[in-house]
Amino acid sequence: MSEAEGPGESATGRPGPSDAGPSEAERAAELRDLIAYHARLYHQDDAPEIPDADYDALVDELAALEAAHPELVTPDSPTLTVGAPASVLFSPAPHRVPMMSLDKVVSHEDLEAWGARTKRLLGLGEEAEELEFVCEPKIDGLSISITYAAGRYARAATRGDGRVGEDVTENVRTIESVPLVLAVDASELPDEIDVRGEVYLPISAFEELNARQEDAGERLFANPRNAAAGSLRQRDAKVTAGRALAIFAYQVVSDVDGGEAGAGGRHSHSLELLRSAGLPVNGETERVKGLEAVYRYCKELESRRHGLGYEIDGVVVKLDDLSLYGRLGATSHAPRWAVAYKFPPEERTTRLEAILVSIGRTGRATPFAKLTPVKVGGSTVSLASLHNEDQVALKDVREGDLVVVRKAGDVIPEVVGPVLAERAPGLAPWRFPERCPICGGSLVRLEDEADTYCVNLECPGQRLQRIAHFASRGAMDIEGLGERRVWQLVEAGLVNDAADIYRLAEPDLLGLEGFADLSARNLVTAIDASR
Ligand code: IVH
Repeated sequence: MSEAEGPGESATGRPGPSDAGPSEAERAAELRDLIAYHARLYHQDDAPEIPDADYDALVDELAALEAAHPELVTPDSPTLTVGAPASVLFSPAPHRVPMMSLDKVVSHEDLEAWGARTKRLLGLGEEAEELEFVCEPKIDGLSISITYAAGRYARAATRGDGRVGEDVTENVRTIESVPLVLAVDASELPDEIDVRGEVYLPISAFEELNARQEDAGERLFANPRNAAAGSLRQRDAKVTAGRALAIFAYQVVSDVDGGEAGAGGRHSHSLELLRSAGLPVNGETERVKGLEAVYRYCKELESRRHGLGYEIDGVVVKLDDLSLYGRLGATSHAPRWAVAYKFPPEERTTRLEAILVSIGRTGRATPFAKLTPVKVGGSTVSLASLHNEDQVALKDVREGDLVVVRKAGDVIPEVVGPVLAERAPGLAPWRFPERCPICGGSLVRLEDEADTYCVNLECPGQRLQRIAHFASRGAMDIEGLGERRVWQLVEAGLVNDAADIYRLAEPDLLGLEGFADLSARNLVTAIDASR
């Protein structure tokens, strides 16, 4: 998996090129253990330590090993199974139709290959008419199966290992958008139907929940998915009721034919039925013809993913014609009539090399993370603010930790937290320095305040920031007078405050490194223009 390469580190425990690598059998066993460990954290504890992208990389590596050496496949290999066994917190709830996983594709090429294989399996030639697909956002929540008996809410279960889930009937009952009675004539339905869907937490509700957790001194949820899973999988359904969970329904199954019920032969019709029965169906869902249209849908939705109000991690592409489902069948863990197009990851792991402190123009001392550069969310991240002393303590990040870094869209990169399983013994908690890293004066934190300050008004760090702020785009907008140049001028004793800028002449600048006739003239011209 290419995403796991490049600078930075992945949490895969993969040996570096200079290590004497373990034999393939040993590595396969090690991968199975690692995957089981992380699957338990994800599915049972709702507290994963590594991003999905890192987890996927482990599974991909094991799958590649098994493909090259089939003798390494074990019956319980995570490449053959789904999710994790149901936890003992809830009663077991067997699924009448298994809840499967989806195979994934990550590129246009992958998608084309999936389409070509689908056509081939259906015996369709090149000249055959294009297939019709339903594209749905892949909601990043947790999957749920809700049973309606004679049109009434009867039971709900998590996916578990796909065959047996956890009985969360009372919890799901508290979700406002789950109807307790379907708005359809029950005599038109099979005795029992299972509605499959995704329980999720809207981003606004996630942020509110974490603010509440912080006020109460409780642990913060790393992302909306964990928060949704943690909120649903509560022994006391009253806690769930207070959590603003929501649901999108995306499939309906009954044991009439082990497939979709009452659908008139098309998945898109069954979604309409679900909607008219009163269940929330995602409004971004679209029926399209041909794989090029599928790909356009994927790219378009990806460009809007941060404006939806809930997290998605891709697109689920399903054949519309239900009569093809039985013909295509399924592998051990995924149907062949659907595929997940996954967006590039927005969370990665990397090394926290150091926690440093920067001094702002008001003297505020802000801790920030110096990271081994890592490509995430479309750019390379090497620095991230840690905001203040309490935030560092709350996240419990320590110098030397492997940390999860998140960069979503245009949002500023963030250190989510440490990968505790990878923490070296003896890493000390970080302590706020007592002295300003620039002037050596004392750093002071007032009681009841989150921020720490360098209180020396003469601190060159503060002075630099004040002058740079004065010259910046939002203020006097002096072109060519950025932080680096200001530092040079302060160091040379040419500028002590903003007024000094206006005393600068070309000969003053010519003696400084990096200045030539032209650049000195340009700067003086820019300063004059701002007078
Ligand atoms: S259909 C046979 N549709 O993605 C599997 N799944 O990796 C049928 N998911 O476990 C699943 N949004 O939790 C389907 N619109 C959607 C989905 C969706 C999210 C999740 C679901 C499933 C996982 C598969």
